[in-house]
Amino acid sequence: MRRARFYLLVLSLTLLPQVLAARHLVGFLRAQDDPRLHALGWTVPGLLFALNVPMAFEIAGRKRKALLPPALAAVLQTGWTAWWLGSVLYAVVLGIFSLGAALVWLVQPGPRAELPLWLALAPFALSFYGAVFGARALQREKVTVPVAGLPPQFRGLRIVQLSDLHSGRHVTAARLRRIARRAARLQPDVLVVTGDIVHNSIAFARQAAEAIGSIPSRLGAYACLGNHDFWAGADEVERALEAAGVQVLRNRGVLLRKDGAGLWLCGVDDPWSDRLDLDAALRDRPEGAATVLLSHQPNTWPLAQAAGVHLQLSGHTHGGQLAMLWLHRSLSLARLITPFVAGLYRAGESYLYVNRGAGSVMPLARIGARPEVTELTLVSAGDPAGVSAAEVALAWRPA
Ligand SMILES: [Fe+2]
Repeated sequence: MRRARFYLLVLSLTLLPQVLAARHLVGFLRAQDDPRLHALGWTVPGLLFALNVPMAFEIAGRKRKALLPPALAAVLQTGWTAWWLGSVLYAVVLGIFSLGAALVWLVQPGPRAELPLWLALAPFALSFYGAVFGARALQREKVTVPVAGLPPQFRGLRIVQLSDLHSGRHVTAARLRRIARRAARLQPDVLVVTGDIVHNSIAFARQAAEAIGSIPSRLGAYACLGNHDFWAGADEVERALEAAGVQVLRNRGVLLRKDGAGLWLCGVDDPWSDRLDLDAALRDRPEGAATVLLSHQPNTWPLAQAAGVHLQLSGHTHGGQLAMLWLHRSLSLARLITPFVAGLYRAGESYLYVNRGAGSVMPLARIGARPEVTELTLVSAGDPAGVSAAEVALAWRPA
């Protein structure tokens, strides 16, 4: 309930930019000559405002099953997200523009410049895009990772990674099945899911587990749990996954075997649960075995490096959801919580891959950080393909 209160507080604070945007919209419509636009001047902002009411109920009653038919819920959610996020971005754009206009006015006094209509509409168009397309269109990422000491039998092993499904009222069973079909098309040798299987209720664990369990993989499906899974009920999420044939690696590992060789695949509990135990996950690792670790949060990577983990697979960041990863991966809201936002990182012989996740959290929009399914191919550290991967991975050193 504490988190629901936090979200309600955020919702109330963001009423301010909504008031600002609505006031300007009313002013704009009433300034037009057409009397029909005058009438719209009061009804449209009122309706947009009214969308906050079902959203507040949505947040407060988050553990219940869906109250509305999925199609209507999706329309309301998309409309609210475009309006809510659009008005926040509009306030930012207006603030920057007004500051610029004031500076120009100081240098050259005269009539103040007004925000052009296209610039006023751009935040709403961008938010609409982010809610309708940006949060839904899964992007496949293909990554080659050099692993020191990888046995020849495992060279070319393909790991398909999903993360942050956030199964819930907004990431529905149908959407999870679509994500699963996309991952299945990649024909994984090993399937891994790096936490946040459910969003906030165990009521939605089974639909996620069934979707994950439906993806065929040659050497099995494995998962670790994320902070949202612990908030909802880690043991229940684990049981649902295991029932669907997905092995949940909670501070433990398994030796993947292929033609007499072994690869240690292990997982740890989310660090915020206070149950993370990397030593336990590595306890039965054969001496010198190449090691892949599933850890929901990328911030555990320095620990993993010290423990001789060759590759850590993580999620958690969602790439920030609002970002400009195409320009630079530090230009992301996720940079506020971690230096490891998205993609491949290298430190010596250890690699970290951060998946942007397939689901989303509120606001259910993504701009510049599309949802992702990842296909990782392991090669030995000396392979020419591995060298090119090392070149694209940005080396990271602690500050
Ligand atoms: Fe997440």
